[in-house]
Amino acid sequence: MTRLGVLGSGKGSNFVAIAEAIDRGELQAEIAIVLSDVADAGILSKAKARGLPAEHVPPGKFRTKMEPEAEEALVSRLRAAKVDWVVLAGFMRMLKTPLLEAFEGRIVNIHPSLLPAFPGLEAWRQALEYGVQYTGCTVHFVTPEMDAGPIVAQAVVPVQAGDTAEALHERIQQEEHRLYPRALQALAAGSLTLRGRGVLRT
Ligand code: GRF
Repeated sequence: MTRLGVLGSGKGSNFVAIAEAIDRGELQAEIAIVLSDVADAGILSKAKARGLPAEHVPPGKFRTKMEPEAEEALVSRLRAAKVDWVVLAGFMRMLKTPLLEAFEGRIVNIHPSLLPAFPGLEAWRQALEYGVQYTGCTVHFVTPEMDAGPIVAQAVVPVQAGDTAEALHERIQQEEHRLYPRALQALAAGSLTLRGRGVLRT
């Protein structure tokens, strides 16, 4: 069975969607460990409520990345949990060499826009302010550049007349909750593979 290590900094709605897809048998995987850089993150309490191993890993002194020792701590937790895939679900720090090398080609993220449009923070707000008519969400492999790795799967969310940033974000999140488990199932089943910078469907 494919073992997932989930990393998140926030409320953990994507974690819940993944766990529920596993419960329904739609995603043939198990969540081996949940880790967060935020001590009181919802994702940790939601994981514990499901009886899953969940741990806070203090990030150290930086704001946008982990201190190298802290990132090594993530790697050792993930290795000890025998994780096959590292699943970023609202993890708000850039990953660097220790984790990227330890799990090369085995780290995925979900981003709330149709990449390569609107990388970075509050992508739904960026899309609304730009005036696009369609946005959505993207599951992609993680590389050292922010929100830039090969694309695994995308879902489109139309912008509606009179949309607010909050309403648009809510509809994007609903799509994320459908998209991420499906993308993970394709990866776990080996029907998608990473070759260089491209994703092959087999
Ligand atoms: C999601 O919107 C995701 O696209 C972004 O962070 C958010 C995480 O939300 N990377 P949650 O913690 O899964 O509810």
